[in-house]
Amino acid sequence: MIRKQAFGAVPEGPVDLYTITNSSGIEVHAMNYGGIIVSMRVPDNKGMTADVALGFDTLDGYLNNKPYFGAIIGRYGNRIANGKFTLDGTEYQLARNDSPNSLHGGIKGFDKVLWHGEHFGNNQGVGVTFTYTSKDGEEGYPGNLETKVTYTLTDENALQIEYEAVTDKATPVNLTNHSYFNLAGEGAGNILKHQLMLNAERFTPVDGTLIPTGEFRPVARTPFDYTKPTTIGSQIDADNKQLAIAHGYDHNFVLNRKRSGLELAGRIHELKTGRVLKVYTTEPGIQFYTGNFLDGTVAGKHGHAYDKHAAFCVETQHFPDSPNHPNFPSTILMPGQTYYSRTVYKFSTE
Ligand code: GLA
Repeated sequence: MIRKQAFGAVPEGPVDLYTITNSSGIEVHAMNYGGIIVSMRVPDNKGMTADVALGFDTLDGYLNNKPYFGAIIGRYGNRIANGKFTLDGTEYQLARNDSPNSLHGGIKGFDKVLWHGEHFGNNQGVGVTFTYTSKDGEEGYPGNLETKVTYTLTDENALQIEYEAVTDKATPVNLTNHSYFNLAGEGAGNILKHQLMLNAERFTPVDGTLIPTGEFRPVARTPFDYTKPTTIGSQIDADNKQLAIAHGYDHNFVLNRKRSGLELAGRIHELKTGRVLKVYTTEPGIQFYTGNFLDGTVAGKHGHAYDKHAAFCVETQHFPDSPNHPNFPSTILMPGQTYYSRTVYKFSTE
């Protein structure tokens, strides 16, 4: 079932909140401002429902959404070094909003624009499609980029996100969603007792400004080894240079892939409530971020102060700063090509 209601307005127009529900008790709220997933209410192993997504109660909170709670990220997820890259001999300078780098699309990225929403019901489930055209030169990126993001909630308790884009000039594109999860419920403390499995034998270490050095480093015998289910808090404080740089995890993991298509990227289990989140994606990487920049100053839903590690993010993506790393999978979309990627968040209990 899907319902649309007014949720305020921004200078570009009215903001609509979509309530998407399925037959097994999951309820997702999403809005056309930033394409933000506002909430995800999911049952636990006793049938008790909680909202597992950090965020705000009202649109006002989201107008100053510094952590990017729930938002669509574009045109380029994560950082581009010094906001610079060269394409076909032309150097481009992007808006720099994370000194000295460009982060998550720039000053006014896809998380802060008003999308056009259309809801639907089909044999896969119910959901909403958000479209947005990013103009040639927006935030420094070349080409008019027509973007479409579709959220579909299925009766199998999966929230599927599909990303599509076409361009009229070659441009880097790397779209993702920036939901912050706490499987015990938003505001229910930190996520350090959650168990994590990541289907990744390597990760991309970073320099002091969180730009990948270009290396693919094996996770074996490091605190980045989540190839078997491991409690996050048991490794996060390890004496490790990469953890020190990021004040926790804020790293791109290179997913193990035998083929292209949708594959399991990770699994997170909260033992008290039994909630399990499985993440499947067509992308080659996943940014595992443990909310290291949260410091209790953001007043979230129900006035909850979100402290450091109050949530984790699993941003499925191509690797950060790919336009400056020829050894990374390419993120350049050419005219005539269609960008397509798909990520599924599958909820269950144990
Ligand atoms: C990503 C980045 C982090 C941080 C968050 C947003 O996860 O990698 O460094 O910027 O987004 O706060």
